[in-house]
Amino acid sequence: MSDGPRLALPIVLVGPMGAGKSRVGQRLAASADAPFVDTDTRITERYGPIDQIFEREGEEYFRIVEREVVADALREEAVISLGGGAVLHPDTRDDLAGLPVVWLKVTAEAVAPRLAGGSRPLIAEGGLARWTAIMEERAPVYAALADLEIDTSRRSVARIVEDITERFGGAR
Ligand code: S3P
Repeated sequence: MSDGPRLALPIVLVGPMGAGKSRVGQRLAASADAPFVDTDTRITERYGPIDQIFEREGEEYFRIVEREVVADALREEAVISLGGGAVLHPDTRDDLAGLPVVWLKVTAEAVAPRLAGGSRPLIAEGGLARWTAIMEERAPVYAALADLEIDTSRRSVARIVEDITERFGGAR
C-alpha cells in the first residue's frame, strides 16, 4: 500500500513541445507512487531516436509507430506523458475521451529557453515561429480533450503536481 497521495490512474498529460509533460509527469508519478510512461521515450527505446525516425522514414511513419506505443501505454495504470502530436490520431482522441486528461500549456516566451539546443524535428527549421503555429493549430484539439488546463510558464513543478493531485485525487 502506498503512502503517497492517491491518484486516479491512468492519467494523461498532453500539450505542446516544451510544456513540461515529462518533468511534471515524472514528479507526479513519484508523488503518487505510480509508474511513469513517456511515450517519446518508449518510441526511442523501440525504434531509435525520434529525429532519426523523422529523417529516415518521415512523419507519417512516426505517427504510425507513435499510435502503436500510445495505444499500449493508455492501457497501463500509470501517469502517461504523450508526445505533443499524439492527439492528431483519431483513435488516440477516442481513447482519451474516457480518461482524465491534463493539458499543460506554456507561452512562447517561456518555452523558448526550454526548446533551445533540443533535437525536435518539427521545429528544427522555423524554431519558435513554427512552434507557435503548431501550438495554435492544435490548441482546439487539446481543449476538447482536457479536463484540466494548467499554464506551466510561471508555475513550479511542485505546484502543478499539487494542482493535478487536488483535481484527480481518488481511489486507486
Ligand atoms: C512532437 C512532439 C515531440 C515528439 C515528436 C513530435 C509533436 O514530443 O513526439 O518530436 O508533433 O509535437 P514532445 O511533445 O514530448 O516534445
